[in-house]
Amino acid sequence: MVLMFKGLEDNRGDWERELKSRVPNLEIRVWPDVGDVDEIDVALVWRPPRGDLMRYPNLRAILNIGAGVDYLLADPDLPEGVPIARMVDPGLTLQMSTYILHSVIRHHRRMDTFDQCQREAAWCYERALDNGACRVGVMGLGVLGSDAACRLRDLGFRVAGWSRTPRRIEGIDCHAGHDRLFPFLSGCRILVCLLPQTPHTESILNATVFGALPQGAYIVNTSRGALLVEDDLLAAIDSGHLAGATLDVFRTEPLPPDHVFWRHPRIHVTPHIASNTNPASAASQVAENIRRATQGLPLLHEVDRAMGY
Ligand code: GLV
Repeated sequence: MVLMFKGLEDNRGDWERELKSRVPNLEIRVWPDVGDVDEIDVALVWRPPRGDLMRYPNLRAILNIGAGVDYLLADPDLPEGVPIARMVDPGLTLQMSTYILHSVIRHHRRMDTFDQCQREAAWCYERALDNGACRVGVMGLGVLGSDAACRLRDLGFRVAGWSRTPRRIEGIDCHAGHDRLFPFLSGCRILVCLLPQTPHTESILNATVFGALPQGAYIVNTSRGALLVEDDLLAAIDSGHLAGATLDVFRTEPLPPDHVFWRHPRIHVTPHIASNTNPASAASQVAENIRRATQGLPLLHEVDRAMGY
């Protein structure tokens, strides 16, 4: 079994160690030194160069190192018929929820205001608003979205969720489909976006959606930059309708140094770090999918190419 690895260069040694301890006789070739392309059975990849995956005629599985497969699916030369698996890993999910909880709580507890007060040595005493007074909307109720929604619910926030297909999650006001988007948005003081990037979700965070949120609402986007219409966000914040945003993902990454988001006083920017795949926890799924690919079995968390996730 030969695996081609093209991934996050800083932890490739960890991947090799974790996978070799789980998969007997695994040979790993690190891109671009892939050797004989006919020998590659499985590709473990994060953002491989466009057209690269079509070079391996005997490929049996493409295993994506991240949760979102939009980049892979945008490759016009992606080999047809080769199953693709996305990453679903408890470590990845927990990191994402931690980031979301932090962003929601920082805004809800007005920590930016208190940071400013500290800079001015000002004792700005005020009472906290109850969590239950804050409706948080979570767009996307897949593995990541439902975990974040449940953790917010467990902290006492009033949580609403919106997904393409109907979901039932205890204690969460679930809405599904385009017709329910505006009832879902109504009253959300914080809107968290965890939708996958598909042709249906691109630019979904736009002026119309922002306009449907109450005055002073806050945006958290950790899905993909393409879901956000940047100028609409800036206009909504600068007009005072939105209070601000925490953004981890951008249309252009790295975010260019002269981009207005970097220095905007009401926008927090992080460099796509909300959740990173950690080989120590994620290698089990990869090892299981290598086994399944070898035996011609369906992969865990196989992507539906037409749906885009
Ligand atoms: C990261 O962005 C991922 O898709 O996991």
